[in-house]
Amino acid sequence: MKIAVLVSGGGTNLQAIIDAISDGTITNTEICLVYSNNPGAYAIERAKKAGIPYVVKSPREFDDRASFNEALLGILKDAEPDLVVLAGCLVVIPECVVRAFPNRIINIHPSLIPSFCGTGFYGLKVHEMVLERGVRVSGATVHFVDEGTDTGPIILQKAVSVRADDTPQLLQRRIMEQAEWKILPLAINLIALGRVKVTDRKVVIDGYDSLEY
Ligand code: GRF
Repeated sequence: MKIAVLVSGGGTNLQAIIDAISDGTITNTEICLVYSNNPGAYAIERAKKAGIPYVVKSPREFDDRASFNEALLGILKDAEPDLVVLAGCLVVIPECVVRAFPNRIINIHPSLIPSFCGTGFYGLKVHEMVLERGVRVSGATVHFVDEGTDTGPIILQKAVSVRADDTPQLLQRRIMEQAEWKILPLAINLIALGRVKVTDRKVVIDGYDSLEY
């Protein structure tokens, strides 16, 4: 399976995917493209180091959003991925891209959807809101991307306890280590193995009940 990974920042989730491919946790998969909207993203350094083709294109280079959206669609189509992986990608994926890759785009979100998700819930903000609300459990979710924001069918979720002395930064890091870097590679591998199906807007995973994660 060929995957395109879309990033905007540090790229620790991209790194988790690269590492899982090289240690065999993800099978039958190669990264055909890393795309970043942000020229300063450290994720690009990670792609370079791993010898993965990458493209940087910022919406700011375009006169309007529609032209950027078309360009993004073209970049993705040229790479011919079987799956598009949003790994900390801050670009809102346009409808034309969602339609071109139906149930073939996945996203990692740093909370237990449907809590703390939707417009405005990204980056540290998510963890700030979690601490402000005082919930005891947070976590991460891998889901398919549809036309809404964080509304697509859920593939995997992992819970992480909130600690009394947490800061948004500490919680963010723990959720990455304990949840995101595990469930994103796992979801990609399950998709590569053909074990993930979407029926009626719900995900069915072959052998789900015996999965340990
Ligand atoms: C992660 O918390 C991810 O869940 C969110 O953005 C962050 C990206 O981190 N969507 P990184 O660039 O993978 O290090």
